[in-house]
Amino acid sequence: MCGIIGFAGYKNAPEALLNGLSELEYRGYDSAGIACFSDGVIKVLKSVGKVSNLRKELPPDLLSFCGIGHTRWATHGGVSKVNAHPHTFGCVTLIHNGIIENYHELELILKQQGKFPISQTDSEIAAMLIDSFYQGNAYTAIRDAVLQFSGSYAFCIMFSDQPETIYCIRKGSPLVCCCSEQGSIVASDMVALLRYSKDYFVLPELQIAKVTRNSILVTDLEGQECTPKLLSITWDLSSAQKNGFKHYMLKEIYEQPESLRRTIMPRLRKTDDDSVLLLPDFTEDNIPDSLFSNINRIIITACGTAMHAGLIGRILLERLLRIPVSVEIASEFRYENPILDKYTLVITVSQSGETADTLAALRLAKNLGAKTLSIVNVKGSSIARESNAVFYTHAGPEIAVASTKAYTSQLAAFYLIAFRFAYLTKLQTDTQCSLLSSKLFHIIPDVEQVLMLADKVKKISRNLISATDLFFIGRGLDYALSCEGSIKLKEITYIHSEAYAAGELKHGTLSLVTEGVPVIALATQPDVFSKMISNIKEVRARGAFVICITTQDAVIDPTLYDQKLILPPIDPLFAPFCTAILLQLLAYYTSLLRGLDVDQPRNLAKSVTVE
Ligand code: G6P
Repeated sequence: MCGIIGFAGYKNAPEALLNGLSELEYRGYDSAGIACFSDGVIKVLKSVGKVSNLRKELPPDLLSFCGIGHTRWATHGGVSKVNAHPHTFGCVTLIHNGIIENYHELELILKQQGKFPISQTDSEIAAMLIDSFYQGNAYTAIRDAVLQFSGSYAFCIMFSDQPETIYCIRKGSPLVCCCSEQGSIVASDMVALLRYSKDYFVLPELQIAKVTRNSILVTDLEGQECTPKLLSITWDLSSAQKNGFKHYMLKEIYEQPESLRRTIMPRLRKTDDDSVLLLPDFTEDNIPDSLFSNINRIIITACGTAMHAGLIGRILLERLLRIPVSVEIASEFRYENPILDKYTLVITVSQSGETADTLAALRLAKNLGAKTLSIVNVKGSSIARESNAVFYTHAGPEIAVASTKAYTSQLAAFYLIAFRFAYLTKLQTDTQCSLLSSKLFHIIPDVEQVLMLADKVKKISRNLISATDLFFIGRGLDYALSCEGSIKLKEITYIHSEAYAAGELKHGTLSLVTEGVPVIALATQPDVFSKMISNIKEVRARGAFVICITTQDAVIDPTLYDQKLILPPIDPLFAPFCTAILLQLLAYYTSLLRGLDVDQPRNLAKSVTVE
């Protein structure tokens, strides 16, 4: 979604803004723009397409030390220069990430005052409203305007008569801030602050930050000064760069042994020095044991790939705990009037910690009295801050739109949570929990081995490049993985793809399986293996081109498949880590061979901060 950057400092602001926008590019966008104070006036520059287009239009002599920049992902109004941010009305120039839901009502009021927008955006209406309240006092103008907005927003606002100053406010959408020797910077996420500082703070909702080159002053809407909590990150700029890989996605696929190690290792402890038992321990995460007591139902809610991690989590939790677990798409859950109480544990899963629907689902769960636990990658994000407890995945920054290492870290989180839950509630013996925990730790070398299959996967993906439709099928854990394999492939290859529970094929989808249609069949689970083979026979009989992912000891008639990928020897319960990586590689190489933009697929955004 939209990316925001604001800079007030001692270096060339246009350069700082363009660098920041390039670092935020991964969030997904269709146009970009900047506004800078130069010679005491605000100069605005916008362009459609990539940040590199905007860079080309930058006058070489534009001298400025303070400005704001924006990458836009269209919601209200098409992709055009006029709809690109910044928007100016009267004294106000601003950039916005979010949606002002009541913009139409506000527009009608402004029109009655004889004020007309030139763009089709809700953001310009926000600029108009703030301007209508502005009489020299930025604080009162911002406060009076935001009290009228419904929806979500992060704004950076400049007033034409207040040079070298940026005001910021947010509700729902993210905004992080830092001060450094080079100046003060605000941005939609940490990635754009990294070159300046590792220490930052999240601007609290409905507080106003006044950003000048020497300081960021934060006050609440009543004008009381506030001190936001300082956070720091453990990774550096190189973690957010490609480091010799052709794409971020490939780099992030290859980072999985390390990201899994970082997520798993700090949580595994011996029960005492002499013990042989290795168990998950959440003391350092401040996740209280009481969170897992008196729970009779678990609901997992999330969006996209994070929701698919939940599908694996559900199977695992139900198997080990024997209590009902359901997975709900956050955008549905939030409007379904769900039945929750204090005996329900709601687990929200989010890489960014900012997905609007997941955040709303979390807030609803809390209001209805459920206990909440979130699995989040980005430290200090809204979902992390608002949950009763947070399990941070330590995947590091994920830049490619298609989630890879964040997904496998989310899986690891679910395994650890399930083992800890089962241990605390004595639903599994201590020895069993310890055995499972050490198997989790041992997936790391298996994952390394799977990465060595990359060349083979690349060769296989040549068979997919001219497909128009394809299907992923599996049962149990493999069905959950099929959903993830399918979304990964469709988002970056633009090939129509569907995931099916293999047993469901006969109820409709089989009519679409004809000569040469690729079917990726996952057959890694022994309890449903023979059933899966029957389903492979069904698609094979209709002429499908079958790519089978299976285990070493599985015996499959070679006439049933065209290509086969074999996992390293692994306990089937842990196979999802390896299968997921093969599916990621398959999507990656298919997209690469089709010559597409792997890291920034059309129309998609990394962090979905609007409904
Ligand atoms: C977008 C991203 C996906 C991600 C989903 C949920 O669609 O492109 O990769 O899985 O949002 O995001 P979250 O940050 O909540 O995990």
